[in-house]
Amino acid sequence: MSNTSGKIILAGGSGFIGQALTAAFLSAGYSVVVLSRQPGSVSGNRMLVQWDGRTSGTWEQALNGASALINLSGRSVNCPHTAKNLLEIRDSRTGSVQALASAMARASKPPQVWIQASAIGFYGDTGDRLNSETSPPGADSLASVCQDWEGAFNAVQLSATRRVILRLGFVLGRNGGALPILMRMTRCFLGGAAGSGRQYVSWIHLADVVGAFAQAVQQPAFSGTYNVVAPEPVTNRDFMRVLRQVLHRPWSPPAPALAVRWGARLMGSEGSLALVSQRCSAQKLLDAGFSFQFPRLDMALGNLCRSI
Ligand SMILES: NC(=O)c1ccc[n+]([C@@H]2O[C@H](COP(=O)([O-])OP(=O)(O)OC[C@H]3O[C@@H](n4cnc5c(N)ncnc54)[C@H](OP(=O)(O)O)[C@@H]3O)[C@@H](O)[C@H]2O)c1
Repeated sequence: MSNTSGKIILAGGSGFIGQALTAAFLSAGYSVVVLSRQPGSVSGNRMLVQWDGRTSGTWEQALNGASALINLSGRSVNCPHTAKNLLEIRDSRTGSVQALASAMARASKPPQVWIQASAIGFYGDTGDRLNSETSPPGADSLASVCQDWEGAFNAVQLSATRRVILRLGFVLGRNGGALPILMRMTRCFLGGAAGSGRQYVSWIHLADVVGAFAQAVQQPAFSGTYNVVAPEPVTNRDFMRVLRQVLHRPWSPPAPALAVRWGARLMGSEGSLALVSQRCSAQKLLDAGFSFQFPRLDMALGNLCRSI
């Protein structure tokens, strides 16, 4: 990221991706305001401002004069997908977009760019089909959440604001997401494929996620919707094989789909997250001049597993 000054608003910036973005923007010279449901605090150039993710309030003042607004807010999808949880997953996303839209409309000097997180779950379970940004939405519950999420963002009327949607893939990092769990299981010789293992995983290293957000902030030509995935999606079977190699573990038998679903429930998660097939193209990101630090899975997992 090129060094500069300015203020970045990170709504929902206290989590896995937000923490990495905070560190990167601070070290590039920005100040960072995190909108969080936690009580406010200040630490150097990072300020935590309290909001509820749904309604207007004094937090709105933080938007004035900011260079960029990045919205990452939303209840984690890593939970059983009961009707109640799905409602919360959806409402926390559309609600935060609507609250930010009202604040942007009222701001005297709103940020010039709004970057909205979304997910490749938008495409649903698509087998071997390669999804570009113009591929149709899927029909499952998370695809429906993503459509409502992006729909709320697309409905916002802000003619002077550059707008970007980043559809994130499976983000690989040391301190969050599903990789640390997969690593623990693999170390315990439970690193087999999930189900048939033929489902595609469109992964991306956290450092490249940070790079994509930085490019979206700093390059005025960056506009519209982008898949944020590495250029080489792999099958779940290959993903687990590379992970075993990196962790020096032998072959493990695959876990049948039913066992994955039950195991996930026991761990308070949702098995379909590991069984769904999403093969997504990074071509639009590459065409925008994006350069991946970790274009290959062995590089990404080697980097992340070596340093733990
Ligand atoms: N990690 C991935 O692999 C991945 C993949 C695809 C898409 N994404 C999307 O990228 C965004 C950031 O991901 P992440 O992994 O950083 O998520 P995360 O660690 O769960 O952080 C999301 C933040 O949203 C806020 N939040 C949680 N529940 C909320 C609610 N009910 N209402 C309002 N805010 C709420 C929390 O902040 P406070 O508690 O401080 O308010 C939390 O820190 C999410 O929208 C996620 O769906 C992530």
